[in-house]
Amino acid sequence: MDRVGTVISKERRPPTHLNFEFYVEKEVTVGDFVVVPAMGGDIIAKVEVLEAYSSLFKEPEILRDERLYGLKMPSQMEVELSRIIVAKAKVLGVYDGIALNPPSIPPSPGEKVYKLPEHHLKRILNLSERGLYIGKIWGGSLKVVLDLDLTLRHHVAVLGATGTGKSYACGVIVEELLLKNIPVLIIDPHGEYWTLRNPSSNVKELESFELGPREFHTTVVSPSGNLRVSLKVSKIPAGALAEAANMSEVQEDLLYLAYKEYKPETLDELEKAIVKAGHERGFMDVTINSILRRIEALRELNIFSNQGVKLEKLLKPGSAVIMDLSQDMEERARRLLVGGLLLELFEARKRSLVPPFVVVVEEAHRFAPQDRETFSKTILRRIAREGRKFGVGLVIASQRIVGLDKDILSQCGTKILLRIDSATDLHFLNPLLEHTSFEDFRRLPHLPRGVAIITGVSLRFPVMVRIRPRMSAHGGGGESLWRSMRLVAQSRVEEN
Ligand SMILES: Nc1ncnc2c1ncn2[C@@H]1O[C@H](COP(=O)(O)OP(=O)(O)O)[C@@H](O)[C@H]1O
Ligand SMILES: [Mg+2]
Repeated sequence: MDRVGTVISKERRPPTHLNFEFYVEKEVTVGDFVVVPAMGGDIIAKVEVLEAYSSLFKEPEILRDERLYGLKMPSQMEVELSRIIVAKAKVLGVYDGIALNPPSIPPSPGEKVYKLPEHHLKRILNLSERGLYIGKIWGGSLKVVLDLDLTLRHHVAVLGATGTGKSYACGVIVEELLLKNIPVLIIDPHGEYWTLRNPSSNVKELESFELGPREFHTTVVSPSGNLRVSLKVSKIPAGALAEAANMSEVQEDLLYLAYKEYKPETLDELEKAIVKAGHERGFMDVTINSILRRIEALRELNIFSNQGVKLEKLLKPGSAVIMDLSQDMEERARRLLVGGLLLELFEARKRSLVPPFVVVVEEAHRFAPQDRETFSKTILRRIAREGRKFGVGLVIASQRIVGLDKDILSQCGTKILLRIDSATDLHFLNPLLEHTSFEDFRRLPHLPRGVAIITGVSLRFPVMVRIRPRMSAHGGGGESLWRSMRLVAQSRVEEN
């Protein structure tokens, strides 16, 4: 094993079963896992703080005197010899060769500290052999492979500021799922996922992760174009329509009655049903007319039809269905589409009409806002709560952590945290990160692009991970870039 230091015992800060300090003899960085052999087993710890000391620079006067009186400074060699690095480590547990037991014994002062060999780290973190290959431990070569079942059953949240690599990381997850033959549905408000069908040109970097370029099978659907997604009036709950049409309570009552009594299949039938039910139940003409006007406005959203593509048929093993919602449309139409289509698919899954699948929701705060009840949020909550029972996994991505439904966020057992610098977001997130240490948390605002702290059910301890390169091309990035790509994407859909 690679020896990196020696346990010390400072006055009033002796090693305990929870924390200890060691004199650093060889390069160690914050976040490194170390091991101290002890009588009861190997004490496993994580380096959380590094402190640099030098007896020569304890007094600031030395520098003043040098400048004022030209006093000789200590030589380079003296400086180097006086320099001491002390690491503060947090004990994670005691490894007996089989299991990691809770911290119970302090390391002895004078004991040697070693870097934890990666094959041990792999076992201790509970990494898998054939799960989702997300990246490599930051500063190391250990592959971070998350257990497939555990990760999918408890859902995933990818969080971080804009441009920190969320969509890129989601793309990595999608690739891994497709490689495992799991169907994926992507809610893609920016139209950036269609590039999954093109191999990456980043061959060199891929090689360093033992990977190669690859293309994936995708089907892009959108509210316009040939593969058009649309909603069936009969499949949308009255409440969801009322929400999208901004109806009052009385209006919603009548809508509900019309639905219940006449089971309309189209907007035309719905209008007739409203007139009939309205008259039968003695609603005022102004109410009826006002609903009709609102339904007319819904019609203009252009998302209702009985001829849309059947997503159930497209969700196939190894294939990604990308719902491109980047075209100019009202946000309420986007939300209604997402809610309606996810509801239909979830119901289809409950009846085993589609294989188990994963849904990736980009910009999740738009579909599941924290401050408002929306139909799409109700459905996403249902998937977050009941998905694991029926084989529907959820991956959400968002840069607006405060604006994202806390309930759904807390259901996400794995969190991939990219750089987060908003103090409000950090404050909101803090109570949701049970296992993340204060030191890890404080590093969130400083993470470079593409580096994440991953925490949750699929890893025994949070680790810092360099996200692996994409095997297929990444479509996100600059505004002008995705605009041009979107145009290409749309023309391709039409070619299909
Ligand atoms: N893991 C990564 N490796 C290499 N480049 C990355 C990585 N993550 C992000 N990038 C680059 O950063 C840019 C922004 O990433 P993106 O995932 O689109 O950000 P956002 O967090 O806004 O979704 C991308 O264009 C991509 O080129
Ligand atoms: Mg993005």
